[in-house]
Amino acid sequence: MTEQLQERFQSLFGQQNQHTFFSPGRVNLIGEHIDYNGGLVMPCAITFGTYLLTAPNKEGKFRFRSINFEEVLDIGVQPSYQKVGEYWYNYPVAVIHHFIKEGKQVQGMDMLFYGNVPIGSGLSSSASIEIATAYALNQLCNAGFSKLDLVKLCKRVENEFIGVNSGIMDQFAVTFGEASKALKLDCETLDYEAVNCFLGDYLLAIINTNKPRKLAESKYNERVGECQAALESLKSELDINYLCDIDSETFDKHKDSIESDVVKDRAEHVVKENERVNHAARELAAHNLHKFGELMYASHESLKNLYEVSGKELDTIVEFCSLRDDVAGARMTGAGFGGCAIALVKKDSFQDFEDKLIPYYTEKIGYAPSVYSSLIGDGVKEI
Ligand code: GLA
Repeated sequence: MTEQLQERFQSLFGQQNQHTFFSPGRVNLIGEHIDYNGGLVMPCAITFGTYLLTAPNKEGKFRFRSINFEEVLDIGVQPSYQKVGEYWYNYPVAVIHHFIKEGKQVQGMDMLFYGNVPIGSGLSSSASIEIATAYALNQLCNAGFSKLDLVKLCKRVENEFIGVNSGIMDQFAVTFGEASKALKLDCETLDYEAVNCFLGDYLLAIINTNKPRKLAESKYNERVGECQAALESLKSELDINYLCDIDSETFDKHKDSIESDVVKDRAEHVVKENERVNHAARELAAHNLHKFGELMYASHESLKNLYEVSGKELDTIVEFCSLRDDVAGARMTGAGFGGCAIALVKKDSFQDFEDKLIPYYTEKIGYAPSVYSSLIGDGVKEI
């Protein structure tokens, strides 16, 4: 794989690459849409991700190429950059923009990207490409950022340059992920623990709905806005900074300070999902996968009915899973509105699971899903 990429680099840029970095995608086991509410989340890095081959050049330009996309960009070193259309290279350009904004000196570089995370599938292909770029720039330009600085910088990339008001979970997981471990991350304090992700006889299946994601970014920002509205209302009665600062009992006492029923539902999801994560972390530590799986199903129901970010494609997958004894639990993962579901499937029946899910889904939805079994891998690194 990397040999072919090296040859491609040489033929595209007329020089050899000096470094190869790998930055993973991620799945979130549980704790959805609560990172931007100061909640507890449990993501893991996966073994699919983005390869970045790079070397400085003498042209004083950034030259971006991708194996996945046709569009190319050659652009000089400038004091600042702006987003151009919806092109993939906005992500690395945005990272460079934010390095410069932080007063870092950057130099012209050739960059070739190859990603095997399905794009726009909710597995954080964008955080993966951002962190790959930031990690490489940090090293090549001796910028001296810590890993946590890079995570925060890439969150600003999403919020300020790309225009998605996302939380910190994806960039964090992609950077700090560890093989066979899930991160138990408190998004208010950024304290985290890498906990053993014991799956016993089960494996982690990732099912891509293959639904083209439309309006996902504006719907996402709408949910963030609804949570802010709920917080403002609750603050008239409570001294809190985030929705996840309260438990469900306190929420029930004060929920009528929120006027809109829809906003009340959003807040209820957030508060209860946060409690579910605490519960799920205890069940995982006790190797109680059945209980963990039940909490995954409960999380999905809440995302479907209260938070309204699922859809018939994701629901069809989760419904199929719930009908099988060899699946401990399943739920949508990531932002939703299409994208991927995850399921804990008995290892020895995975083939049967895949063989039956594909026609079940295709008959109901009109096209096939993609089914993968994934390992939990490491965070960003030079390879
Ligand atoms: C996207 C965002 C994350 C998080 C999830 C939902 O992946 O980038 O910050 O909010 O959605 O949990």
